[in-house]
Parts: sequence; structure tokens; C-alpha cells
Amino acid sequence: MAHSNGNHLVVHKDPKSVGSEAFRTLRTNLQFASPDKPLKTILMTSTGPGEGKSTVMANLAIAFAQSGQNTLLVDCDLRRPNVHRIFGMHNGLGLTSHLVGEAGIEQVMMDPGLPNLTVIPAGPIPPNPSEILGSNAMKEFVAKVKSQYDMVLLDAPPVVAVTDAQILSPLADGVLLTVAAGETPKELALQAKSLLQQAQANILGVVLNRLNPEDQKEYQYYYYYYGESAGARDD
Ligand SMILES: Nc1ncnc2c1ncn2[C@@H]1O[C@H](COP(=O)(O)OP(=O)(O)O)[C@@H](O)[C@H]1O
Ligand SMILES: [Mg+2]
Repeated sequence: MAHSNGNHLVVHKDPKSVGSEAFRTLRTNLQFASPDKPLKTILMTSTGPGEGKSTVMANLAIAFAQSGQNTLLVDCDLRRPNVHRIFGMHNGLGLTSHLVGEAGIEQVMMDPGLPNLTVIPAGPIPPNPSEILGSNAMKEFVAKVKSQYDMVLLDAPPVVAVTDAQILSPLADGVLLTVAAGETPKELALQAKSLLQQAQANILGVVLNRLNPEDQKEYQYYYYYYGESAGARDD
């Protein structure tokens, strides 16, 4: 069960335990974020690794799928891929296999066993992630899946140390930033914001993860603020 306490939202850590009010609220906010041009592709990044991008994206993907939207989650973190672990999948075939021409798009689309949800793992880690993510094959891939799915969620690498997220952000309609509460230095978060702005990213907001790191057992706290109060918008 998820329950909320003001702005502090309590959710299960295990994304398959579903029913999280926090992620339903985030989903709803994203659905209303752009009424004239619905967001169809959302990119997730963070300042550094391990801040919870994939955990948040997996939960968000489930929330979109549960609302009846045909949803695709793609692991684009070709440096530290972990979406496959969250869903208990293999990573032998994935995005990279398709982009280098070793596998057809259908071959890399995995069924996590949840209605309306498809997952594409990252695939074998390549020596040149930035080039692969910046390739025409990647652009074509995103254009194709955008036409097939109601919602495409791209789980990207961190933005501060490598250029991957900046390379990918033009392919997405909007970008979310996961920040680990109490861990991410403010200067790094601001640097991430400015790097995304340089890449002309449409920054949608910030997901503040691990709000209560003491409570590591059954529940985890997610708090997110959104829009102007996040200070993450440029308008
Ligand atoms: N809110 C949270 N509470 C506890 N553990 C979390 C939370 N969010 C993420 N984690 C754990 O932290 C680790 C890194 O999270 P992950 O989503 O893989 O980060 P990233 O994709 O940004 O590298 C994983 O082991 C994940 O289970
Ligand atoms: Mg990850």
C-alpha cells in the first residue's frame, strides 16, 4: 500500500509491488505538463550514478502502463545499465544489439509480464556509448518507437560526467532529473541543470529520491516537487 503524508509520499521500493500513489501523482502531473503537445518521450537523468534514475523510471513506467497507456521503457544507460535487473531480465540482447544491426527491434522488446508495458534492456556494453547514442540509428529508433507507443521513457546516463544525456535530450519531449536527497551537492544539481539547458532540453522537473535514507526496510520515501517551485524550469 502506498500512502501520502502531505508532500511526503510513501511507496514500495519494489516496482512490481505497484499501486504507488507517488508515481500515479507524478504521472498525472506529467500528463498535464504540456496540454497542447502531449509528452510522448521523457528522458531521465541525474548528476551522477546511483541516484535512483532507473528505480524511478521503472515505477513511472508501471504507473503509465497501469493508466492504460502503451508504454515502452528503454535503458539508454550504456555505461551502468540496470533496468534489466529491476525487472529480472537478461541483458544479452538490448538497445545496443539493435543499434549496431545485430537484432531487429522486435527481438529486443522484452515483456516484463505487466499489461501495456514493454522493456528494452541496454544490451551489451559498447566501448563508445556516446557515439552509439548520438548515431542516426538511435534517432531512427526513437522516431519509430514514438510512433508505436503512447509513452516512451528513456532511462539515460548521468549528465555531469559524460555527454550522453545531453546527446539524448533533443530526442525527448521533456527531461526529468532525479536528485538523491542529502547526497547530491547543490552545485552539481545546478551544473546538471545548466548542461541540460545548453542542450536545449525541456526540463520538466526534479524527482527528489531517498528523502529518508534511514528507512531502508520496507518502504522508501519519495518526494518530488514539480514545475516552478522546483526551480528547475527556465520559464
Ligand atoms: N528510494 C530508494 N530507497 C532505497 N534504495 C533505492 C532508492 N532508489 C534507488 N535505490 C537503490 O539504489 C541503487 C541505485 O538505484 P538505481 O535506480 O539503480 O540508480 P541509477 O539508475 O540512478 O544508477 C539500487 O540498488 C536501488 O535499488
Ligand atoms: Mg540506472
